[in-house]
Amino acid sequence: MSERHADVLLHGGTVMTPNGAERIDLACRDGLIVALGDLRDTWSAENEVDVRGLHVLPGVIDSQVHFREPGLTHKEDLEAGTRGAVLGGVTGVFEMPNTNPLTLWQADLQTKLDAAAQRAWCNYAFYIGGSGSNAEQLADLENLPGCAGVKVFMGSSFGDLLADDESVLRRILKHGRRRMAVHAEDEARLRARKALVEASGDVRQHPLWRDETSALMATERIVRLAAEVDRRLHVLHVSTTEEMTFLARHKRRVTVEITPHHLSLMAPDCYERLGSLAQMNPPVRDRRHQEALWRAIRDGVVDVVGSDHAPHTLQEKAKPYPHSPSGMTGVQTLLPLLLDHCNAGRLSLARLVDLTSAGPARIFGLEGKGRIALGFDADLTLVDLQAQRTIHNSWIASRSGWTPYDGMQVKGWPIHTLVNGRLVVRDEQLQGAPQGQMLRFLDADRRR
Ligand code: DOR
Repeated sequence: MSERHADVLLHGGTVMTPNGAERIDLACRDGLIVALGDLRDTWSAENEVDVRGLHVLPGVIDSQVHFREPGLTHKEDLEAGTRGAVLGGVTGVFEMPNTNPLTLWQADLQTKLDAAAQRAWCNYAFYIGGSGSNAEQLADLENLPGCAGVKVFMGSSFGDLLADDESVLRRILKHGRRRMAVHAEDEARLRARKALVEASGDVRQHPLWRDETSALMATERIVRLAAEVDRRLHVLHVSTTEEMTFLARHKRRVTVEITPHHLSLMAPDCYERLGSLAQMNPPVRDRRHQEALWRAIRDGVVDVVGSDHAPHTLQEKAKPYPHSPSGMTGVQTLLPLLLDHCNAGRLSLARLVDLTSAGPARIFGLEGKGRIALGFDADLTLVDLQAQRTIHNSWIASRSGWTPYDGMQVKGWPIHTLVNGRLVVRDEQLQGAPQGQMLRFLDADRRR
């Protein structure tokens, strides 16, 4: 076979490379990007795709999803979750440990890796939960193949994973070197304030119960404790002005995630329209906070956007608040929402690439991802910035079958998705069989 024969050749797209947006062709072979440039007369391929009019982005990596397998597969599972991912243009996910059983030990991780093999449509890694029971083993656990790192819940959200005690947090932080991901809400304050919403049963008070002080207290505390042992942190789903101001002063240690729902939904309107479907932890807050999140994107304080895809069934969500569980789907709508924000002028496409691909690859030390360049993996997300679509529940692959954005019109849409050099979504339709592989991370010494 000729040197210049590829598996897939993408002709005439606008490719987002480190140089900027370039009108070039792109060839993939054996899962890698093997040529870039004007390839029309010099390269051939099994599969030649005319992608004129589309933008080619490095594959979107969603570094926070809950796929609920094992134990809660009536809400979601790895096949449906990753199918939604690729339909939404996502090529890699980091999955969270609050499953049943919790992901605390090597055997729990292996169960997930086995379940993902041959069933995952996109690439994957899994977090290990940090708790009092496994704190001393975390330095070994976090370096197992397929582990995305350690995740700590400082405040109860969903499931039994909780580490709110300062001595336990210290033990967890001390054992390990990778960037540790944290859900920062102060458990004692949440408990003390729960009576507020138990009395009213009013979901509009969700941001009042889990208020900005609860978030700030936990964030300040974990940054202080991490500094004692010189550990790096990743604060998940930051939702408040006050945390952003604080975190901007700690960027050498701390990376920051925000979510599409905190950028796209707003209190009180979302609670009035959607009731408990808008209920998330930390809560969707008001305009003041949302504006601070956009400002933090512009100022570079934010490193990644992750969806926090956290499905529950509509039946579960229909329980009277606060018995309704917090969480909503998000992996499939992450990119459409961000593309819509691009079209509305709130975000540049270059920054979108930084937040959804280059950012996660950089801060977690992912091998071969986050960049369209020779030798990098051919995980690619092709989007039509002009396409107008209406998001519908019927489009959502999640086993829970719903999205808070049902009926919303957006401009900008994923058209083709390549995972490991294979077209798994073509013209918005799923193709072939699941091809996802375990994500690989740079070893600790090379990791930033
Ligand atoms: O609202 C939430 N639900 N926030 C989380 O962080 C966890 C999640 C879940 O697992 O349902």
